[in-house]
Amino acid sequence: MAERWTPDSWRKKPILQVPDYPDRQVLADVEKQLATFPPLVFAGEARRLKKQLARVAAGQAFLLQGGDCAESFAEHGANNIRDFFRMFLQMAVVLTYAAASPVVKVGRIAGQFAKPRSSPTEKRDGVELPSYRGDIINDIAFTPEARIPDPRRQVEAYRQSAATLNLLRAFAQGGYANLASVRQWMLGFVKDSPQSRRYVELSDRISEALGFMQACGLDLESHPELRTTDFYTSHEALLLGFEESLTRIDSTTGDWYATSGHMLWIGDRTRQADHAHVEYARGVKNPLGLKCGPTSKPDDLLRLIDILNPDNEPGRLTLIGRFGAEKVGEHLPALVRAVEREGKVVIWSCDPMHGNTITSASGYKTRPFDLILKEVRSFFEVHQSEGTYAGGVHLEMTGQNVTECTGGARAISDADLNDRYHTVCDPRLNAEQAIDLAFLLAELLKKERSARGEPMPVAAGL
Ligand code: TRP
Ligand code: MN
Repeated sequence: MAERWTPDSWRKKPILQVPDYPDRQVLADVEKQLATFPPLVFAGEARRLKKQLARVAAGQAFLLQGGDCAESFAEHGANNIRDFFRMFLQMAVVLTYAAASPVVKVGRIAGQFAKPRSSPTEKRDGVELPSYRGDIINDIAFTPEARIPDPRRQVEAYRQSAATLNLLRAFAQGGYANLASVRQWMLGFVKDSPQSRRYVELSDRISEALGFMQACGLDLESHPELRTTDFYTSHEALLLGFEESLTRIDSTTGDWYATSGHMLWIGDRTRQADHAHVEYARGVKNPLGLKCGPTSKPDDLLRLIDILNPDNEPGRLTLIGRFGAEKVGEHLPALVRAVEREGKVVIWSCDPMHGNTITSASGYKTRPFDLILKEVRSFFEVHQSEGTYAGGVHLEMTGQNVTECTGGARAISDADLNDRYHTVCDPRLNAEQAIDLAFLLAELLKKERSARGEPMPVAAGL
């Protein structure tokens, strides 16, 4: 029998990646204050997401998850959020239309502030300081003061998440996501790019289809599904004191939910079965993600699945693989086979970012776009040959015109990285690269569906 779970039972377990707060009293006060704040999301929304993810697990929808590696206080603004959302809608509509697949939309946003680090300290020119752990913990500036963990940042992160979420909800439900505006989602700087032609073509076809349906007598205004979309939030559940403060009982079911975001994931560095992060996650009813990588052993993975999803509930657990383009073909099949053999229901998602990070000749941390595409392709190939469903992707991306990942249609080179390298953490796809990737995904998804003998819904209807 598993031990009793409480929102704070993680505190008795070994834990990694904990910030060293100098004043424990201030930390305790902040956590107490956060516990009185309104939840950011409602349990019913998390349940709805879980239902939609269950469709992904069954091969009937595709999961698109993505956003910044780390959100920052400095980049918090209406334009950033809007540009991110526009790009996300473009990607989603490409997938929905070109692959005729419903897309479950989950942003890595409105709470993605805490970062696990490979080393507790960072050295520059002989000076050693504590590592930057994300804006919810300390400041990125390389000074001793800035790097001291400050609990009050958690309140700031909560406020920023609330404001971001508020705007996202307004966009998703208030008319911005209307399919009639498909053309307007194009971002200015993408307009003169090679992808723009493809996107314009696709948006013309959508407009045509809408016009056709209207001409047939369908009243488009009476179909809210054409005007609105469901958009969900997610982040890594790393800073457990913060998560605990926002863990609440849902009065309609009596179950515990994390209310800091709809979906939480456990990172590659904190997924030890007997440690604190797994302990926390197992007790909340939200959909969960679990990062897997080359160091995941099939037996360990099965044990984690049993802990995190003991009832084998569809939609509860998404396995997010981050192997690297060269390793996914070697490591993923063993995990897929073990999970299949045991009859566990999971969503297989591909994070093609974290296994493909290199340091460029110019000294920047970067990711070659070609390797990202390669990992995605290999991921689909593995599932094709194992007879399982490639259910989603997990991306680090921004709606801004940054130069952080090399390659893509504009062939960003090492030397270009310096132009607009803005990330506070890992390199992100820029909007063009992200939309490019969406077109590739649509192709792969279409192929996957026809390989399974499923007619395209559109063709079936003709
Ligand atoms: N409601 C549907 C969906 O979310 C259709 C839709 C409306 C849509 N606006 C969208 C799809 C924007 C993608 C992007 O799938
Ligand atoms: Mn990252």
